[in-house]
This record gives sequence, structure tokens and C-alpha cells, in this order.
Amino acid sequence: MVEKPFSTQEDLSSKMGTEFVIRFYRLLKGTAIYDRNNVVMDQYAQECLQTINNTVKADDHLFFKIVRDNSFFNGVKIQVRADNYPIFKGFLNELRKRWIGEVEFSEEVSKDHLKDFVFLLSGLEENNESNYLYVTKQLEYKSIPHIHVAKLEFFKDEEIYVDSEDQKRRSKEVYFKSINLVKEVMDGVKTQKVVNIRKAKRLMQNAVNAIIQDDSALLGLANIKNYDEYTFNHSVNVAVYAIAIGQRIGIPKKHLSHLGMAGLFHDIGKTAISKEILNKPGKLNAQEWAIIRAHPVAGTELVMRMKEWGELSTRMITGTFEHHLRFDLSGYPKLTRKRKATLFGRIITLADFYDALGRPRAYNRFPYVSEKILGLMMEQSGKDFDPILVKVFINMIGIYPLGTLVLLNTNEMGIVVKVQEETELIDRPKVTLLFYKDGQYRKGKMVDLSEKDETTAQYKWDIVKTLDPNEYSINIAEYLI
Ligand SMILES: [Fe+2]
Ligand SMILES: [Fe+2]
Repeated sequence: MVEKPFSTQEDLSSKMGTEFVIRFYRLLKGTAIYDRNNVVMDQYAQECLQTINNTVKADDHLFFKIVRDNSFFNGVKIQVRADNYPIFKGFLNELRKRWIGEVEFSEEVSKDHLKDFVFLLSGLEENNESNYLYVTKQLEYKSIPHIHVAKLEFFKDEEIYVDSEDQKRRSKEVYFKSINLVKEVMDGVKTQKVVNIRKAKRLMQNAVNAIIQDDSALLGLANIKNYDEYTFNHSVNVAVYAIAIGQRIGIPKKHLSHLGMAGLFHDIGKTAISKEILNKPGKLNAQEWAIIRAHPVAGTELVMRMKEWGELSTRMITGTFEHHLRFDLSGYPKLTRKRKATLFGRIITLADFYDALGRPRAYNRFPYVSEKILGLMMEQSGKDFDPILVKVFINMIGIYPLGTLVLLNTNEMGIVVKVQEETELIDRPKVTLLFYKDGQYRKGKMVDLSEKDETTAQYKWDIVKTLDPNEYSINIAEYLI
């Protein structure tokens, strides 16, 4: 993505809007960690204030509004860059769950008033449609007449915010149902039965909804590498990673479920390969390799023959056909006419690579750790992989992916349960601490490694190193979902 010089008023508003969202969101999140007079809060408030007052000076007011998944800043739609996407999503979610859809500053504000306002917002209860009335009353009562809020506009086709436990439960359901479905479809293909595509489409729509709200549950499930049932887990994981990348680069919702389908069935051509070759522990000979390398083409033929795919089939084909092609086309199948790989193909290539290397298999009992895979991706960026997608992907997975067991400088152990949205905090995830009692590890409280000490302004925790959960007999899944 090449950044254009800011030339028009629209570009400028979009840029200011982005700055506003980043700073206001940071301040809002700060309220959960720091108290009002903390130095860090003071700094966040000061930065946010600057953006607000500069805008008011230039445009007479600052008006921020949410319309569906978009943000408008003084009437201009903010163009969200891929690397800022998680921040926007997080911010919009925070406002949405409080049913606040508009914020306006009609005059310059003071730091104290801004803090009053932001603590007022953060203290609102979730899912209460009349929050905006309460805020208005409180602002009146505190004599802050130049800050206004309004109720979120709700569109019929939008999902209502669900709480995180419900979200986790739904994600788990989608994940395991998808595994069964892949199994069913792959078996169906082998025995030439009619396959249930409608069900697959519905599941992928559910997966998209779950990922749009919060991708950590499904990404967490995908990160728990399971030795059994490699192919089925792998297919679902590729779909999950693909959808999660897709939503981060702004692919429309309708196409995301197609991307999920393409991910789910990218290896469908493997149904034609015998188990002996697929699970062969030793090295493959030339003939066996040729069979393996034929699976993208075999898969494409399979998809084309099945009428049930309907309008989906062209997109599905790109995932199946291109997932070993590589960005510079140096992979397979070999093309007679050189052309660029499609976006779907490039996304699925990345998702496939990450998942395939990260798990133990018959011929690869010791999988690579995530850090190493991400390193390889960077090395091959521009050759095997689309460089922009590599950046998005690394940001999404983080240096310590969900489910990583870590040792902290306080000598506590913890499991990474949430990756931060800001790129600068990529090495400071949220971690659930573990404590040892009655012969086993138990779940302790969750801590945010981006938290700083009030007095010293130093980080409260640092990660010293990652640990192997098997060595401590810890079942990561129990803590993650
Ligand atoms: Fe493959
Ligand atoms: Fe694959």
C-alpha cells in the first residue's frame, strides 16, 4: 500500500480522524488500568486533547459518527489503513456495546473535562440502549455543555453485540462443527455422495460473524495444534486464518465467507491421495512427490465437477488451485501463461504455510514454533508471500501467539490469551497467570503486560522466555476457551 501525499480536505479529515480514534481509544482503554491522576493517563489525555482542540480550531467542531462498520469524522468517511484496522475495530466495539454512536465536541475542551467524559463513558453498562441519555444528564450536571453524545443507529441486518462468554461458546461450536463438516465432505467426495455445501456456507458465515466481533476465540482454537485428524483440523484452521486476515484488510463480509469456504476446501484434492503417501513417515520418492504436487489441480477439477458449489466455484477454485503457487509463481502447479496469483490465493497460501509448519505430523514430530515460522515468512516475503499480507499476518498473530506459555520476570507463569491491537505493543499481550495448587496448575487472574507501574512508570511485567506446555503437563486449551 503506497501512501499518497495528503492533498485534499478529505484526506486531511481522514488523517485527523485516524489520529482521533487512536488517541481517544488509548485514553478510553487507559481508564480500565489507571486511575484518573496517573501520569500515563495524563499523557494520554494531553495527546487526545491536542487532536480534539486542533480539529475544533480548524473546523469549528469535531463530530465523530459510526455508521455500520464505518467511522465518519466531520462528515468524511475515515479511510482505515490495514495496520490500523484492529484499533478501529476495537474502538467501534467499545462504543457499540455501550450503544453510543456519536460523539461531538462543539468547543475546545479542558483536560479535566475530557477525563470526566472518558471515565463517564468507560463506566457505562453494556447493552443499555439509553446510555446516551445518562451521559447527557451527567454532562449537564457537571456543567460540560460542549460535549455531546447520541445513540447508536442500529441497522436491521447488523449483529447485536454478544457478551464474550457467549462469543466463546459460539466460536467453539463453529470450530468443531466445521471439523465434522470437512470430514463429511471429504468422505463424501471419496464415495461420490452429494456433499452438503449449504451447511458449509452457513458455518462459514457464522465463522465470519464470530471473527468480525472478536477473532481471539477462533484464532486461539486454530493455534492449539492437534496431532490427530491433521487434515480436518488443518482445513478449518486455514479457513479461520484466512477469514481473520481478510477482515483485517477490509474484504467485504459477503466475500469473507467465500474466502472461508476456499480455505476450508483448499486441500480437497488430497482426497485422491492414498493415506500411505500422505502419512508416510520417511522421505517421499520422486513419484510420490509428483502425486502430492498434483493435489491443487486434482482439487480444482473436483470443485469444477460439483454443481452444488454454484456461484462460489470460481473463488473456491483460486484457493484450491493457487495455494502452493507462491507469490513469484515459483511453486506448483507450473503455469504456462504467467499471471499474478489472486488475492484469495495469496491469503490462503499464507494461512496454509503457517498452519502446516506449526503442527506435529508423521514426518515432522517437532513442529516449528510460531516465532520461527513468522521469521521464515519475513524471509520469503515478496518471493513466496505477498509482502503486505505478511505484515498484516504477523501483526495479527503477534510475537507471542494466543496460547503461548510464558515465564514472566516476576517468576510467574502465564498463558497468552489476547494479542494487543497496537503494533507497538505486539510483545506485551494479555496473559492469564497460572498458579500451582494440589498437584496441578490452575487459572489465576488475567494481567495486561502493557500496564505500567504508577510511580516508576516502568512495565509491571516482562516476558523472560516461552516455555513448552508439555514439559509442565499443561493443557493449553483449558485456559484458552
Ligand atoms: Fe495443499
Ligand atoms: Fe494445506
